[in-house]
Amino acid sequence: MPENKKNKFYITTPVYYVNAKPHIGHAYTTVAGDVLARFHRERDKDVFLLAGADEHGLKIEKKAEESGKDPKEFVDKFSQEFTSLWESLNIKYDNFIRTTDPNHEKAVQKVLQKLYGEGVIYKGEYEGLYCVGCEQFKNEGDLVNGRCPDHDTVCERVKEESYLLKMADMQDKLIAKIESDKFLIQPEKYKREILSFLKKEKLKDISISRKNVKWGIPLPFDESHTTYVWFDAFLSYLTGLGWGGDKKNIPWQWPADVQFIGKDILRVHATIWPIMLLHLGIELPKKMFVHGHLLSGGRKMSKTIGNVISIDEMLEKFGTDGTRYLLMGAGTFGEDVDVTMERMTEKYNADLANGLGNLVSRVLKLISLSDIQLSKINTNEKISNFLDKIEPDKALDYIWNIVRENNKFIEEMKPWELAKTNKKKFDEVMGKLLGDLFGIANLLKFFMPETSGKILKAIEIGKTEALFPRIR
Ligand code: MSP
Repeated sequence: MPENKKNKFYITTPVYYVNAKPHIGHAYTTVAGDVLARFHRERDKDVFLLAGADEHGLKIEKKAEESGKDPKEFVDKFSQEFTSLWESLNIKYDNFIRTTDPNHEKAVQKVLQKLYGEGVIYKGEYEGLYCVGCEQFKNEGDLVNGRCPDHDTVCERVKEESYLLKMADMQDKLIAKIESDKFLIQPEKYKREILSFLKKEKLKDISISRKNVKWGIPLPFDESHTTYVWFDAFLSYLTGLGWGGDKKNIPWQWPADVQFIGKDILRVHATIWPIMLLHLGIELPKKMFVHGHLLSGGRKMSKTIGNVISIDEMLEKFGTDGTRYLLMGAGTFGEDVDVTMERMTEKYNADLANGLGNLVSRVLKLISLSDIQLSKINTNEKISNFLDKIEPDKALDYIWNIVRENNKFIEEMKPWELAKTNKKKFDEVMGKLLGDLFGIANLLKFFMPETSGKILKAIEIGKTEALFPRIR
């Protein structure tokens, strides 16, 4: 057992379905994970940031078939699209777990065998309405006119022999964990939502195997079934740390300190996943942080509506740090946030080209005229408070107040005039400006690592290139 277990900080992001290219929603969660990881690394925490791909299941099987590809070849291609996007977004993850990794598959089979041996998994029959988009059985009450509201598709009625996982016997334990915040669900409204769901009725045992899906991990005790894709995927949070499926060898980074998820996958993450862990006698994650959705023009992004904002287009237009800034600054992280390309362009010009870019170039232009000394500022307590509460948008607002305040200060003080008329006052003004700019660069480190480095470098050498050219 490593000695630094106390100092560890384990952050997970969902393993995304690799049935298509990654989109802005995936980027949103993963950038948030990276910001938090960078913040805790700076605090000398032993951080582990997990990223990965969910590669099995009916949805992928179907898509691969449609494209005439072997499923493995298909997921290889799209997994690669995700890792290359993470590179473009400067995501520093510690592992990228793929659920087709042999070590993962073996671990899943070990877990299945153990739970089957204990009677927690048993053979039965399952009947329900299946949404392939969600890869979930739906309750009648979740549907609108028989359609899945998230995917707007008709759910198929499935009735087949299946292996089931006992749920209800852990329900009270789970409720107690959530109520006591031992398994903390944030923001509060999502905790309330889950508690009211859990208290409403007895949970039905869930189907953890599929007879008609070929593309999955075979059950070790019945090879005519494959493992339900969510059961498989959840365990990646442990196998991503190298876990081999043995209760005795739980990786020292576990339990996760923060698991990032979007609100669309809260219910499964706050029922099936913790109940699997309770059955296995493994600690629950400490915190589940749920963020809202990015909407486009007030609506869910959809190819049919034609309002999808492409992450590639964002990167091309705003660059890596511009994109990270616009995603994290889009709005309250736990709420739905509406974005449009027009408004993001405006924000880029206002906050980055005019706001920060302008401040940097003005201060640097004047710097050679001054003899000031600057003192080092450490991570501001306010930013730490915001990031401890996972409020990246508020942290950015706070930093940009300082940016705006300094730009205003320059306009009021007119240092270029002071340089000629009042050298003492000029040095004083430049001292404040440079100190604040140094502070801003340090605070930006987690959000915009390259920009932060460029500003620090510019201060050191006394000149700068344009950071954010205006765009149209
Ligand atoms: N494979 C499952 C997750 C398994 S985790 C054990 C899955 N994959 S997914 O590809 O559909 O990604 C879902 C995640 O993408 C959501 O949790 C959320 O993080 C993100 N988003 C998808 N669309 C989104 C928006 N429009 N806005 C913000 N995030 C959204 O579900």
